[in-house]
Amino acid sequence: MRMNKYNLIFLGPPGAGKGTVAKDVVERLGVPHISTGDMLRDAVSTGTDLGNKVKSVMESGQLVSDELLFDLVKDRLSKRDCEKGFILDGYPRNVNQAKALDQIMDELNLELTSVIFLDVSEEEVVKRISNRRVCPKCSRVYNLISLQPKKDTLCDDDDTPLIQREDDKPETVRKRYQIYSEKTAPLVEYYRNRNQIITIDASGTVDKVDEIVFNTLEELR
Ligand code: AP5
Repeated sequence: MRMNKYNLIFLGPPGAGKGTVAKDVVERLGVPHISTGDMLRDAVSTGTDLGNKVKSVMESGQLVSDELLFDLVKDRLSKRDCEKGFILDGYPRNVNQAKALDQIMDELNLELTSVIFLDVSEEEVVKRISNRRVCPKCSRVYNLISLQPKKDTLCDDDDTPLIQREDDKPETVRKRYQIYSEKTAPLVEYYRNRNQIITIDASGTVDKVDEIVFNTLEELR
């Protein structure tokens, strides 16, 4: 079994800040950020077979099938850059996927270090998501309140006009939150029973949440 201090899962409701914190943390840890949402959105925007299969499911806020995710995640975790560790963001999403991840990690001879649970209220995530804007070219994520672009509605990196994600429309956000509560939230208990969950108060500013997560990861060293 390959022991590694940073084989991590970031868990939390939609809009909790998993992607934002993960991007800041991976720079310091030197491990890849593996976001199943980003991988699936890439597949949709490049029009691959996988992308065509999942496009309408994602736009409606539903979960993509466990089978498709199994192959995607196993393939990604097999890559050499995961040898130093990784942050999995958006996977697992239900108990079936958590069991599938156990199987994948067993097969790849990896051991999960911890699950970082970003705990934040529904009211706050709805506010964060409704103000999220993304660059369709480089996928950089902004927020009209907490992480504003320098030039009004253009990406700082490439001047592309920012857009709202299709699944960030209010009615779809409600659906995603409901699915989170029913299917994903039980994973907190699942990993708590295995003594693997670390709960972080993610209600503060991005800098504050980054700091709490960095300090927590330092303690794992
Ligand atoms: P995915 O992309 O994983 O969506 P999600 O889990 O709903 O997560 P989000 O990307 O909405 O939120 P986040 O927590 O990363 O927040 P962010 O950092 O951007 O999945 C999308 C879809 O893909 C799913 O619905 C499903 O269809 C499919 N899918 C993916 N994985 C799957 C799986 N395993 N199984 C089946 N289907 C799957 O932050 C949000 C906003 O808040 C941003 O604007 C940010 O700037 C701002 N912000 C962040 N932190 C703070 C803070 N501390 N204070 C103020 N603002 C903040």
